Amino acid sequence: MTNRRNHFEWFALSLMVTVSMLLGSAIRATAGEVSTDPATLKRLVQEAYTKFKDVKEGKPADYIPELAKVPADLFGVAIVTAKGETYTAGDVDYAFTIQSVSKPFTAALVMQEQGSDAILDKIGVEPTGQKFNSILATQVIPQVSVNPLVNSGAIAAVSMVKANSAGDRFNKILDYENRLSGAKLKVIEDVYKSEAATNQRNRAHAYILFASDRIYSDPMEAVDVYTRQCSIGVTAKQLAVMGATLANNGVNPITKEKVLDARYVPKVLALMMMAGFYNESGKWAYMAGLPAKTGVGGGIVAVVPGKMAIVGFSPRVNDAGNSVRSAKSIEYIADQLGANVFGSGR
Ligand code: DON
Repeated sequence: MTNRRNHFEWFALSLMVTVSMLLGSAIRATAGEVSTDPATLKRLVQEAYTKFKDVKEGKPADYIPELAKVPADLFGVAIVTAKGETYTAGDVDYAFTIQSVSKPFTAALVMQEQGSDAILDKIGVEPTGQKFNSILATQVIPQVSVNPLVNSGAIAAVSMVKANSAGDRFNKILDYENRLSGAKLKVIEDVYKSEAATNQRNRAHAYILFASDRIYSDPMEAVDVYTRQCSIGVTAKQLAVMGATLANNGVNPITKEKVLDARYVPKVLALMMMAGFYNESGKWAYMAGLPAKTGVGGGIVAVVPGKMAIVGFSPRVNDAGNSVRSAKSIEYIADQLGANVFGSGR
């Protein structure tokens, strides 16, 4: 009898444990645990690619003449998780210019060198609600305190990188991007030359910063280094590793190198959330709810903190300079995963 009760008690106990484990995982799932299940991620990358590959909205940026020559139909989607697993579809090995997607990474370099207050005090962190190269924004925000993700603040960020010469400063930025991506990246020289010949507006930004004591190297040198930085070639896969390094608390998940102190990761992601899409940042936060950064080369990197980076590459951009198919793909995957940082809504 005692023995039988013991058996019954054991059975009841193990049943309770099993039920509570199942309940726990169900609660975690509804509370927004983002799946990194390989089959799910593989399927979602492919689905996003298939769903949006025929979208023709937007057109390749042409204010940098060389960019207009990039084949408009290129399209790739990539996920790299914080553990380094990679899922891809489409043109993920085509090297395109990183453009403004470089901006949060240079801000990260400055934080790593000088602390996060340096960005707050010397550049600012306010979203402008204006286009990426808005002169007006620099005039209405006191002390030209814009943020490192618009051109003005990005040129200021470049000027803050500690170096003895413009060449050293650029090499430091390139080396940082190499460590973030675990690759040996190269400038796409034709795009660099094309932008260098047509970047009068950025030179105007640098002189406005100069006139306001908000640039920290020679202004024209800063514009040139910034232009080279924007012309660095990356593939969607490499960009996804850069984003995954942020998702993995500053440690590159492939090379295992610590590239950014964990305490700066939320600062970089906050900048991306508030200003990563410029005058569309509000809509992006509303629709996708993920920190992300766009570039006129067609790349977008979004970060699901602690989990993964989702990248899209498609050269057709809208009026805000944001890639249409890249944004749609990331938004779709984020929604399917319930990855919105404000909650899965489920
Ligand atoms: O300075 C520029 O205009 C370009 N090198 C970068 C602009 C950019 O990528 C805007 N983003 N979507």
